[in-house]
Amino acid sequence: MFLAVDNLGKSFSDQDDESFEVFSEIDLNIEENQFVSLLGPSGCGKSTLLSMVAGLESISKGSIKLEGEEIKKAGPDRGMVFQSPSLFPWLNVKENVLFPLKGHWSKQEASERADRFLKMVHLSRFKNHYTHELSGGMQQRVAIARALAMDPKVLLMDEPFGALDEQTRHILHEELMKIWQETQKTILFVTHSIQEAIKLSDRVVVMGTRPGRIIADFTIDLPRPRKREDEEVIALERKVMDLLEGEINKVLKEELSHEVSY
Ligand SMILES: Nc1ncnc2c1ncn2[C@@H]1O[C@H](COP(=O)(O)OP(=O)(O)OP(=O)(O)O)[C@@H](O)[C@H]1O
Ligand SMILES: [Mg+2]
Repeated sequence: MFLAVDNLGKSFSDQDDESFEVFSEIDLNIEENQFVSLLGPSGCGKSTLLSMVAGLESISKGSIKLEGEEIKKAGPDRGMVFQSPSLFPWLNVKENVLFPLKGHWSKQEASERADRFLKMVHLSRFKNHYTHELSGGMQQRVAIARALAMDPKVLLMDEPFGALDEQTRHILHEELMKIWQETQKTILFVTHSIQEAIKLSDRVVVMGTRPGRIIADFTIDLPRPRKREDEEVIALERKVMDLLEGEINKVLKEELSHEVSY
């Protein structure tokens, strides 16, 4: 298996050294080139799982293997794109993309790679601009170019389009689909949008909470581009929505009962 998450558990300890378990047995196998979306109620551990695959968060139990190699720390084979683009404001667009390439590629190769991926996200014209001169969608495209320029085997995206308006998001969906087809990357994509997940993915994995766990895993064989009004798309949307609503209601009920007793 290309990316294998096996019996994965994560606990955090708080100030009083009390342990809090986010999830205790996540199993997830992802094939090479697959586009997998992860959906689930807030707090179920989506970002935690992604950070663990990125090697930014320690593993409490179980293992994550990429092409058979156990993941122990961050590495250039995994690229991460966050909800906020987290670019350096004192560097221009090209310098931002170049930054992580230093030490991995020669100066000329790094420059060529930065140019190539900025072109891929249609930002060549803006390579000398500073990030405050760009719109939110453009900044997110710089972050995508920066992650891709490292040539990672896996691209991890945590609600990358969550803060964008509908129209920009639509454009970036198209760009991401093209990039994915061109670069053949394996993508693990976290989102709160059921429509976004169904539009983009080969698989939609739904997580539940308390404890965090995988409650459903849908394979989507429909050809792309997918239309929202397609009957199969609507049916799947309904199924995922019902599952998520059930989980969210569970959390709300639990939180409300705490408030009453308090
Ligand atoms: N560094 C940390 N220390 C302690 N607890 C943490 C830490 N990071 C996350 N948690 C807890 O782990 C749980 C899962 O958090 P996580 O951010 O993974 O959720 P999520 O599914 O990404 O939620 P959202 O959809 O709101 O982004 C939450 O209860 C959160 O409070
Ligand atoms: Mg999150």
